[in-house]
Amino acid sequence: MPKVLVIGGAGYIGSHVVKALLQSQYSVRVYDDLSSGHEINLFANAEFIKGDILDYPSLNEAMKGIDAVVFLAAKKAVGESMINPEKYAVNNIVGSVNVLNAMAENEVKAIVFSSSAAVYGIPQYVPMDEKHPLNPLNFYGFTKVETERLMQWYDALKGIKYTSLRYFNAAGYDADGDVKGKDKEPQNLLPILMEVVTGKRDFLQIFGNDYDTRDGTCLRDYIHVTDLATAHVLSIKRLLEGKESLIVNLGTGTGTSVKEIVIAAEKVFEKNIPVKYAERRSGDPAVLLASNETARKELGWEPKYTNIEDIIRTFAKIY
Ligand code: WQD
Repeated sequence: MPKVLVIGGAGYIGSHVVKALLQSQYSVRVYDDLSSGHEINLFANAEFIKGDILDYPSLNEAMKGIDAVVFLAAKKAVGESMINPEKYAVNNIVGSVNVLNAMAENEVKAIVFSSSAAVYGIPQYVPMDEKHPLNPLNFYGFTKVETERLMQWYDALKGIKYTSLRYFNAAGYDADGDVKGKDKEPQNLLPILMEVVTGKRDFLQIFGNDYDTRDGTCLRDYIHVTDLATAHVLSIKRLLEGKESLIVNLGTGTGTSVKEIVIAAEKVFEKNIPVKYAERRSGDPAVLLASNETARKELGWEPKYTNIEDIIRTFAKIY
């Protein structure tokens, strides 16, 4: 079977991708510096090399004998990217250049890249398809746009085919409990809410209840991490069949509001979840919703988790 290098394979999404690749009989090598990933997320039947994408010689060594790359390693805190863009420029842009150069040097011709809905900025229409204009509102989103552009050039000049997966709001955990690493410093709604459920926090802050939505709180497209992982496997398979480069949104196409998330979690965990209303968080669009037609048509992908309660239930595996 082809050998896949999963860069960032000890992280939240990466470890789910590794599991899915192993289940599909791929041979897997993980490259991760464990800065935010977890050692307990490593699978015994995947090779592991501890290394940083900024260490070119080490990355180049890890690329030997590889047929395809899944590239997830990056910094991902949106707020921090606005305060410390230098860090994001180096890790997410220079890091991407290193990955592509190591691929070119070793003649590896296929890459699946972790992009984000953050490339779009404020929606001009919803659901958003891949043709929606790119106007990132934060530096994090800008680094994702830049890597997509780098990949376009390396495709044209070096024949490296890519699939850029623009994730909407990733959520949930492996239903078998095989991924064990919790978010170290949660920034996103669901891991924060789980800390309220487990008593680590006293209440959930809801940022804004005066949006133009059905209940005044923001709507997001929550997509289960195992469904994201499946899309990576399908993308690898498709690229190894010799298909062209592709950009794909990954979402369910359904919006859930912050209030609806709280109600669903109260039902799943049979607990009252205390909330406090706070000011709007800057840069939050009222609605983010994916059109997933390209994923369905080009990858033959379909989300298995379409019910928010089922997604939330999978957090119980590790919290
Ligand atoms: C979801 C909703 C908040 C926390 C971000 C990035 C995106 C991607 C995923 C990448 C919003 C509300 C949140 C809280 C709240 N990043 N909220 N109280 O902002 O949609 O997406 O994370 O790797 O690029 O932009 O996700 O989970 O932060 O927020 O009310 O304590 O929950 O206002 O409406 P977001 P999120």
